[in-house]
Amino acid sequence: MTDLIAKADPVYVTDALIADDIDAYLDSHQHKTMLRFITCGSVDDGKSTLIGRLLYDSKMIFEDQLAALESDSRRVGTQGQEIDFALLVDGLAAEREQGITIDVAYRFFNTEKRKFIVADCPGHEQYTRNMITGASTADLAVILVDARKGVLVQTRRHSYLTHLIGIRNIVLAVNKMDLVGYDQGAYEAIVRDYTEFARSIGIERFTALPISGFKGDNITTRSANTAWYRGPTLIEHLETVEVNTARDIDKPFRLPVQWVNRPNLDFRGFSGLIAAGTVKPGDAVRVLPSGKTSTVSRIVTMDGDLEGAVAGQSVTVCLADEIDCSRGDVIASADAPPQAANQFESTLVWLSDEALIPGRAYWLKLATQTVSATVQSPKYAVNVNTLEHVAVKTLDLNAIGVVELTTDKRLVFEPYVDDRTLGGYILIDKITNATVAAGMLHFSLRRAQNVHWQALDVSRDAHAALKGQKASVLWFTGLSGSGKSTIANLVEKKLHAMGKHTFLLDGDNVRHGLNKDLGFTEADRIENIRRVGEVARLMTDAGLIVLTAFISPFRAEREMVRKLLPEGEFVEVFIDTPLEEAERRDVKGLYKKARAGQLRNFTGIDSPYEAPLSPEIRVDTTRESPEDAAERIVDRILGHWMPTI
Ligand code: ADX
Repeated sequence: MTDLIAKADPVYVTDALIADDIDAYLDSHQHKTMLRFITCGSVDDGKSTLIGRLLYDSKMIFEDQLAALESDSRRVGTQGQEIDFALLVDGLAAEREQGITIDVAYRFFNTEKRKFIVADCPGHEQYTRNMITGASTADLAVILVDARKGVLVQTRRHSYLTHLIGIRNIVLAVNKMDLVGYDQGAYEAIVRDYTEFARSIGIERFTALPISGFKGDNITTRSANTAWYRGPTLIEHLETVEVNTARDIDKPFRLPVQWVNRPNLDFRGFSGLIAAGTVKPGDAVRVLPSGKTSTVSRIVTMDGDLEGAVAGQSVTVCLADEIDCSRGDVIASADAPPQAANQFESTLVWLSDEALIPGRAYWLKLATQTVSATVQSPKYAVNVNTLEHVAVKTLDLNAIGVVELTTDKRLVFEPYVDDRTLGGYILIDKITNATVAAGMLHFSLRRAQNVHWQALDVSRDAHAALKGQKASVLWFTGLSGSGKSTIANLVEKKLHAMGKHTFLLDGDNVRHGLNKDLGFTEADRIENIRRVGEVARLMTDAGLIVLTAFISPFRAEREMVRKLLPEGEFVEVFIDTPLEEAERRDVKGLYKKARAGQLRNFTGIDSPYEAPLSPEIRVDTTRESPEDAAERIVDRILGHWMPTI
């Protein structure tokens, strides 16, 4: 195989350098740029062979050797030992087969110009997870196509995922050219096909190469078999292609804070990896999400203070002012800060056997931030093979969908297309701790920003103060026909007459509008109360005294609403009418129907009612008239407490 390596091959130059001047070698090694790339292809497109060929032809530097080089060790003597090519390929294939269910295999190699990390992702259709993992850190993707088969569904799927993950350098390696007699026409037909497809998914440009991983054509040396091909060899292209990290430096400064360094009272520094841009002492910065500004006073590293630092460096930054800044915050250039929001549209790639549960809270990790997030049901999923949008209720393993997502705290972010560090995230199951999804933020939803700003400018207290009252929710609960609506009505009339701003939400009425899609199953009643709770809370934000008259049979949901509101604003009023009495009155004739079996799930008959254990107010309608009860309730909420009769 060595005949494939020309005498002027960079690897030989490297060897000479190692032998003559190890320090010069280590120095040049350390200043080499790094290219991370992935190889994608179907099972027998020849991925193992190609990777084997790259490692073999560049004489393969093993992972531990790379580590040794980086720690400035002299243990580089094993470099350049002879490796049997076929054995190497077999080994890689076997390892990868084993690795399929576990993870992506990373290989390191090295030429005179660059260091390389290649992520070898299994090609089976169901292993999107591995591809996403490998692609998430890659600058470039090599899409392998078998020259005999051309562009397949797999090719499309891999290209789509690669593009989705934000890789902008795509290499179309038309492999096994030896098996089509190095036919230019076959190659060009495939390139034409791929061009058409690439355009349809937004891939603007790619580099195509005719190669043979097995024979070594156009890998490190230009092949005489493809005299019609004028472009670079694969290695030449990989060595010279511009990598994203170079452009990160031109972006505005971003430092996601990993930890706060405070060894003593005199020193406070914020440590982390600079995600984008450059920084120097004297730069004006803004800390997100708080928005506080300061100036960089020092940039500290293990080797002393720096005059400046750039994307990709780990540093500790000190600020001139004592402003709040903690793990998860982002220090950014003052005049071009990222945004902060708590509602987003996002693409989500589902990576777990357990399907997405819309509404459930997951941990969301983005850069150094961890927040709690819920995903609403997907807007649509994408069929990766046909690229059609499909209506779905959830996302299963390997599904890709567009969702809306809400976080409990504001997240400092950038759209994924602009910045993979501040735009990409993972979701983690709170119970099992498993990574269940990878996501890419599109943009924040305007409504989230608006709510946030309104709440800041005109607070809920301001709303209530203007009305000369304290907002609260009078939550009436009790059996059907117990008298909730009657008493709530009287209370509202009295408050209204006193100039109070009120609103009564009544079960029968709300079920005609907002909740007309809900029935009386347990799940529907829970949803009924959840919605009413949210509406009531919004109305208290507007400064209103809200009265609600719903059976609300379950303690858990009443407690849930209580927790939605500030302490003391939820007043539970238990209209305690015994079942026999409610049934005797049977104002709407429903008990009769329920007893006759014409009405299912009727509260008190074949559906439970959980009476409050310690309501703020209890009304026994067999002993107190509606008028008296209403009077007492009004006194109670206006601050004149009267004991329960
Ligand atoms: S809740 O349980 O979800 O809180 P809600 O107060 O909204 O109930 O509605 C109860 C009203 O719906 C009753 O007063 C009655 O008029 C009517 N209704 C119809 N079917 C049922 C049923 N199966 N159980 C209880 N109420 C019913």
